[in-house]
Parts: sequence; structure tokens; C-alpha cells
Amino acid sequence: MNGELRPFGPADYDAARALWERTPGVGLSAADERAPLERFLRRNPGLSFVAMRQGELAGTILCGHDGRRGLVHHLVTAPAHRRHGVARALLHAGLAALAAQGIDKCHLLVFRDNPGGIAFWRAVAATERLELSLFSLATGR
Ligand SMILES: CC(C)(COP(=O)(O)OP(=O)(O)OC[C@H]1O[C@@H](n2cnc3c(N)ncnc32)[C@H](O)[C@@H]1OP(=O)(O)O)[C@@H](O)C(=O)NCCC(=O)NCCS
Repeated sequence: MNGELRPFGPADYDAARALWERTPGVGLSAADERAPLERFLRRNPGLSFVAMRQGELAGTILCGHDGRRGLVHHLVTAPAHRRHGVARALLHAGLAALAAQGIDKCHLLVFRDNPGGIAFWRAVAATERLELSLFSLATGR
């Protein structure tokens, strides 16, 4: 990738949020509002990154862990910067940061109707877990 990676900081929120909102395949929820996102970054310091190319935000990755498994969210490259290795570089940085915190495996979710996203995960040799189904449950908060 010709560009640079740096940690995702609170000041990146507006540009990142705008990128996520205009990107099909990105699911946004209440967890993506500014305050919960900043709480996520504080709880998972040093694990999330932005890619900068040609003076603009070209991509994002959010990574966190629960002490056992990592989770990758919002690996997104802006259309003008795709197929230049941005997502691969962001993922490499996120995985290295998780590994440095003792985490040996992470999971990620991708919508079934997102062929580009699925092609990316296959290209980086992620294991597709066809034997699993994903369930979600609200906490009641
Ligand atoms: C998926 C996404 C993050 C890839 O970003 P990117 O920066 O273009 O990816 P990279 O340049 O690092 O691609 C690495 C490899 O993945 C594969 N790949 C990436 N996008 C692909 C696509 N649309 N179709 C087929 N293969 C693709 C290729 O093998 C590519 O290597 P190559 O360019 O040398 O052929 C980007 O298309 C995107 O933001 N999509 C919308 C959001 C999304 O789907 N996120 C991931 C799912 S959670």
C-alpha cells in the first residue's frame, strides 16, 4: 500500500462515519454513534487503525477483543482507493496488534450479499465457518 496507517483516534470519527454511511455492505447500529465508538476505542486501545492516502482517509478497521477472541468491524476502503492493498494492510496491522495482546484468533461478520467483501476474506485465507450460525440477543439495556 502506498500511504500510511495510524491509530484510529476520536478525531477520525466524522470522516470514518461518512465513509461507512456511503458504503454498501457496512451495517451501522447504535454502537456506531460517537460516544459508544469512543468508548470502544478506549476499551481496545491501539487495535484500530485508519489508512491515509493522498491526504484523505482511505480506509478503516476497528478491532477489539474480550480476552479470548478478537472481533474485526468496519474494514472498509473508500472506492477511489480500492485494490491498492489498503484493506490488506489495515488487516495486517489489526491482526498484529491483537497478537501482541495475546489473542490468537479473531472473527468477522460479512453480509452474504456482499460479494466483494466475501472475495476479500477468501483472498486473505480467512476460514469460512459454514458449520456455524450467528445468533444475536439484546441485553435488555
Ligand atoms: C472489501 C474491501 C474492504 C477490500 O478493500 P481493498 O482495499 O480494495 O482490498 P485490497 O486491495 O487489500 O485487496 C486484497 C485482495 O482481496 C481481493 N479482493 C478485494 N476486493 C475484491 C473484489 N471486489 N472482488 C474480488 N476480489 C477482491 C483481491 O484478491 C485483492 O488482491 P488483488 O487486488 O491483488 O487482486 C473493500 O472492497 C470495501 O470496503 N468493501 C465494502 C465494505 C466491505 O465489504 N468490507 C469487508 C466486509 S466486512
